[in-house]
Amino acid sequence: MSTTQNKKIEIIKSATSKINEVDFENLSFGAVFTDHLFECDFKNGEWQTPTIKPYAPFLVDPSTRVFHYGQAIFEGMKAYKDDQDAIWLFRPDENYNRFNKSAVRMAMPEVPEDIFMNGLKELLKIDQAWVKKGNGNSMYIRPFMIGTGTGVIANPSDNYKFMIILSPVKSYYAGEVKVIVAEHYSRAANGGIGAAKAAGNYAGQFYPTNLANKEGFQQVIWTDDATHTKLEEAGTMNVFFRINDTLFTAPTSERILDGVTRKSLIELAKKEKINVEVRSVLVDELVEAANNGSLKEIFGAGTAAVISPIVGFSYKDHYYELPKLENSMAADLKLKLTNIQNKLAEDTFGWTVKV
Ligand code: COI
Repeated sequence: MSTTQNKKIEIIKSATSKINEVDFENLSFGAVFTDHLFECDFKNGEWQTPTIKPYAPFLVDPSTRVFHYGQAIFEGMKAYKDDQDAIWLFRPDENYNRFNKSAVRMAMPEVPEDIFMNGLKELLKIDQAWVKKGNGNSMYIRPFMIGTGTGVIANPSDNYKFMIILSPVKSYYAGEVKVIVAEHYSRAANGGIGAAKAAGNYAGQFYPTNLANKEGFQQVIWTDDATHTKLEEAGTMNVFFRINDTLFTAPTSERILDGVTRKSLIELAKKEKINVEVRSVLVDELVEAANNGSLKEIFGAGTAAVISPIVGFSYKDHYYELPKLENSMAADLKLKLTNIQNKLAEDTFGWTVKV
């Protein structure tokens, strides 16, 4: 476990703001960043002075370890502004704990809780004008850490940089999402780094996802690497299947990310008296359910995408279209979840944390 160090944050404010140049109604996901960033370096075995400073590029040596051996981890979180202009985080402790689990798996130092949480809250306060109100608006938070030691020896870095950057966002996917079930490529394997939010897990998906895009699919539904018979994740999200009135999602494992939206939806659905089964769903079961009409919905769940309905899937060159429903569980759960996140509904779970 990491220790708390209660280090005072050094603050260097930007002399100017870019906020008036931003069209908040037309935001491409993750393309615009606020005026400041948070940074803390790990050197000589210790975390140095945490700093908030103007958002800007920084110089690094070409032999910096992250470029060669990929020691890079990140988190995706969101903050929301309520009607009284207070800013709220959604289950930040979950992201903090997962960040440090990823750090351990990637042989990187754990970030102390006060550096992570105080840095994040202070940064949000400084750039609070960038957090827009209303369901559909949020501030996407990207904490990340990279190995900054130099030299191309294949060892863990000795130095690291932990940073937090903020990006005001609306939705992640612009249009319909059709998926293709992976028959050859894999996202993760037992004993690998699939459960870590490691940058390389995403890079490894780009090539098979590009192939899927060329065939007209936006994402791949990943299957288990050993047999390609079990459905695991959808692109950059966890995945849920509604068969009749039961929701199914795979259990988290060494191969599957322990998604915060995923676990929140399981709790929310149970509270709504929806039958939820956390178990592996077989590709054959999905095909059978699509053929006999019991497959009602498939949706991805993640911080960036929130809940993303999937309109159909392809498997072995056959495309299965899902029915268009009046009573969509995905739509209902999304509204309930985002109302809690935006403080438009009571948070009976205690998930929201004031900044
Ligand atoms: C998130 O949902 O926050 C993620 O990390 C996915 C990312 C690829 C945008």
